Amino acid sequence: MMKKMFVPVKTGIAAIDTQHEHYYKLINDFVFLSKNRHIEKSEAIKFFSEVVEYTVLHFDTEEFFMRSIDYPDYETHVKIHDRFRASIEKQSEELEQVTNICKFAETFAEWVGAWFSAHEATADLKIAEYCKTHDIHC
Ligand SMILES: [Fe+2]
Ligand SMILES: [Fe+2]
Repeated sequence: MMKKMFVPVKTGIAAIDTQHEHYYKLINDFVFLSKNRHIEKSEAIKFFSEVVEYTVLHFDTEEFFMRSIDYPDYETHVKIHDRFRASIEKQSEELEQVTNICKFAETFAEWVGAWFSAHEATADLKIAEYCKTHDIHC
């Protein structure tokens, strides 16, 4: 049976949508891989560092964009990002002590995908709605 993949929601903000698509590809490729064959420790570590790196880059981009439009919910949105940033960094650190790296990485990928889908469909879409109602074109 084909695994359900995480699908990005379009915000209409080009810089954000491009990054979301890249992020989803990263997660989906890893989830697909982990369902179909054994994951080496080096692959899991590479995946974790790519997720951490891309999260930092993406959140920086999104936060810069929110500041540039004086987004009123900026503080709330950043707090949500902060919690996620801290959580993935903590899980990356735990990776070194994990015995079943394959399972841990698979669970992590599913969790990141689910978190990201939910965040995008709520908090990120709110930015898009704000742009629409305030006639901000991006
Ligand atoms: Fe966000
Ligand atoms: Fe986002």
